[in-house]
This record gives sequence, C-alpha cells and structure tokens, in this order.
Amino acid sequence: MTSPWWQSAVFYQVYPRSFAPGSPGPTGDLAGIEQHLDHLGWLGVDAMWISPFYPSPQADFGYDISDFCDVDPQFGDLGTFDKLLAACHARDIKLLVDFVPNHTSDRHPWFQAARSSRDDPHRDWYIWRDGSPDTPPNNWVAAFTNESAWTWDDRTGQWYLHQFLPAQPDLNWANPEVVEAMHGVMRFWLDRGVDGFRIDVVHGIGKDPALPDDPPELAGIPHSALNDTPQTHELIRGMRRLVDAYPGDRVILGEVYLLSTELVAQYYGAGDELHLAFNFPPLLTPWEAPRWRKRIASTRRNIDDRGAWPTWVLSNHDNARHRTRYGTEDRARAAVFLLLGLRGSPVLYAGEELGLEDAVIPPERVVDPGGRDGCRAPIPWTPAPDHGWGVDDAWLPWPPDPRARNAETLLADERSIAHLYRRLLAARKASPALQLGGAVPIEAPGDVIAWRRTADPAGQAGPDDRIVAINMGPAPAAVPIAGTVLVASDGTGEDQAFAGTLAPDHAVLLAPDA
Ligand code: GLC
Repeated sequence: MTSPWWQSAVFYQVYPRSFAPGSPGPTGDLAGIEQHLDHLGWLGVDAMWISPFYPSPQADFGYDISDFCDVDPQFGDLGTFDKLLAACHARDIKLLVDFVPNHTSDRHPWFQAARSSRDDPHRDWYIWRDGSPDTPPNNWVAAFTNESAWTWDDRTGQWYLHQFLPAQPDLNWANPEVVEAMHGVMRFWLDRGVDGFRIDVVHGIGKDPALPDDPPELAGIPHSALNDTPQTHELIRGMRRLVDAYPGDRVILGEVYLLSTELVAQYYGAGDELHLAFNFPPLLTPWEAPRWRKRIASTRRNIDDRGAWPTWVLSNHDNARHRTRYGTEDRARAAVFLLLGLRGSPVLYAGEELGLEDAVIPPERVVDPGGRDGCRAPIPWTPAPDHGWGVDDAWLPWPPDPRARNAETLLADERSIAHLYRRLLAARKASPALQLGGAVPIEAPGDVIAWRRTADPAGQAGPDDRIVAINMGPAPAAVPIAGTVLVASDGTGEDQAFAGTLAPDHAVLLAPDA
C-alpha cells in the first residue's frame, strides 16, 4: 500500500500578515506569498498551511472571522487566492487553509442576527445561558484575558460563551444547522481545490451539554486548554467523512491544544478522525536530553503504537520561536535534526529556516491581546533598510539583526542555517527511511539522544537506514555510532566518516556502516 502524501511531506506554516507584501506596504498578503514561492521551492518543502486571510475585524488577527468564504481585502480577493493555489500546485506544493470552526467574529452576520433577539433563527447557533448579570453560568476562563469565558448581553439578557475573546463567540455545534453550515465552508474551499485544512482548536467545538465547572485545581487555566468531550469526536468524524469523500488524499491537521500526548492521540480516533494532529508537549519541552527522551517515547507509545502518524512542530504563531526559547543558534541548528529526523510529519514555521529570533516589542507597539507579537515579526527578505517590504517599518518591529539575518544574505552563505535546513530536507527526501521508516532508540550517554531510522517500518536494521544523534549537553560527548556523516549541524565533516564525538549542542545525520 502506498502511503498518502502527507505522511512523507514537510509542512511549512505561513502567517500571511508577516510573510511578504505583494506591493510595498506594512502587512503581507496572498500576492506576497505567491511572489516568494521560489523560497519554498529552494528550501524543498512539500506543503504550506496559511493562517487565516478571511474577512475579519482583526481582534485576534484573523482568527475572528466575519465571512468564512471570502478573502479580506487587505490580503487580496478570491481571484488572488485561486492564483496562489494554482501557483503552488504548478510547483507541486500542496496548500492547506486554516479552518476555524470553534467561533466566529462577533461581527459575523450569524452572530449579529443571533444577538438581535432571543427569537432570532440564528440565536441557537451560539451558546447562550440565563443568569444574573453578576454571576457567569460557570467558572470557565477565556484565553488571552484570563477573565470569564462568558459575556453578558444586555440587550437580550443572557450570557454567551467565548473560549477566546468576547469578540469570538463560540458556535453551537450541537445545532445541526451549524454543522451543515460549517460543512458548507469546508466544501467551499475543497471545491476550489485546497489540499486540506489546518483546523483551529478542533478539540474545543463539542461541549458537555451540562457545561460543568472546570475542576477547582485547574481553575484559572483557560477552558480552551481543557475542553475534551465525546461530542467533539463525533463532530470530527463528520468532518473526516466529508474530506475523505473528495479525491486526492485531502488532509485534516487538527490543532488539539490539550497538553497531554495521551489526550491528543484520542483525536486520531480509530483512523476515522484527524489524519494528523499537532502535539504541543514537545514544543513546550526545554533543551534537555532526558526530557526529550521522554517526549519521544511518549509520542511513540501514544501515537505511533496506535497506528497513527505523529507530527513535530517547534515554532508557530502562538509561541516564542524555538531559536528564542533555546537561546543559541547552535541549538536551533541541532533542533532541525529533531524536526526532520523523528518519525512523523514535520511542520516548520516560516522564518525558522533563517534562525529568526522573536522581535523585541516595545510596550507602545504591542498589538496582540495574547502577547504573541514577538514570534509574528515580519520576515526580513533583504539586507536593505526596508528588508524587501518597500516601507520603513512593517506592522511589527523586525526580528533582531535583520541586516545580517535576512533571506538574501543567508541564502548567499552556504554555511548558514538556511542551507542546513535545505541540506537536511534534501537528505530526508532522498531517504525512505527518514520519510516513512521505523524508529529505534540508540543507547547513548546522558546528554545525547540518538535513534536509528530504519527503511523497514517495523524497525529491522538494514543497509538504507539513517542514524540521528544530538548532543544537548554542555560538554563534548563520545557517541557509539559509526557511519558517514550526511549532514552535520555545523556543516563540518560532511561526506566523511563520523569521528565519534559530538560537540555541545551539535547534531549529525549518518548513513550507518553496513
Ligand atoms: C488557535 C490559534 C490562535 C488563535 C486561537 C483562537 O490557538 O492558533 O492563534 O488565537 O486559536 O482562534
């Protein structure tokens, strides 16, 4: 049986506001993405997912959507989208769009209608509860504000639920009309030809009808990190059936923001829910070998062993970049060997291949209610003062040192981190063991993690295997592996026999000796 494309693919996330402008301006757009597809081709990624570009008041920078089936004029229009999709496909790059099923903007016509009166036909498209204006229906806390997840609507005298900002009311997926309408949104984009969806907070959509309090020991944690109900699984199965009815292995990659791999694994169902799920515990793991060893083992136990396919992600638009969290470029370079060397589908975040750090945001330039501006800084494309954007300043400050740390400069330097990403991506593409094979841990000294990727999916060693070793510690470490270095995190010794020692925060990919 051949495996679907998304198992061997490397995904690349684009945050459209910050990627590139199609014509000079402070914010990026869809035309800008199309103009920079060469960059994705140069890097060698297979698929792109784009954060929301739909009409939105931008209270949560596009995750508050007022029309699911159009493009916000600041990003282009449906024609620009179709052009981008065709350009991606012409280069053999798959395109996923972000589907945000949990909530709409409070400006969405559905919510405008719903809040106009208790008798409005759209009223039950959202989640309303009676009560007195000073006591919310339960203790759920909203993300970003850490205040109640309920807002009192004066006009109609009821509370409405929002797991995020008050401007992002939760849809009521217990209402079959909502299910039908949101399936219509999926069909709209699938019919246009997208290859699938990244699905925003997909674990959030089903609610326990009793809306019980969160346990007191978890009070204060946003409910969006806790919501985990059987209702959601049935709803995801419905999405999966819809997507699977289309030709071409369309994929659903769900954001399951539950901080337990065991819980995330449940959202693959029995092969009838998500094709792929983000698993964030590794993203939140510090640069320490024992902790990573545990994460890798837990992923294998919970996800691989149930016959599901893991994903690996270290950075995105919601968290500090891993270059910033880990603190040095050496570590960021070694971390690529985790992303591209572990078993599963890697998801890169635009700019990590440039080793970008988060921008420092002075208080007067803070715009995100969730404190995530730093990782959303615009991509510097050139060393010029406008960094390829045609304006002095973009919507957020540049990441540190953009005169040196920009795409043009780094692509011209073979020793750069950008070239390291490219070499590793090429090595992966050339190796069925790395793309689809098995994974077997190798015993290694304390601060080193090492594993063998076997061409045999069941883990039997063979001549076409690969070995990955990473030293996360502060001292050089002798590693009991032998073979030819295909890629080294500092670029030294490639195509030569492995010398047996790994420098601190360094990594290698080997073709083992037969
Ligand atoms: C997801 C998105 C995040 C957004 C939130 C609400 O976590 O990744 O950016 O703010 O959902 O839609």
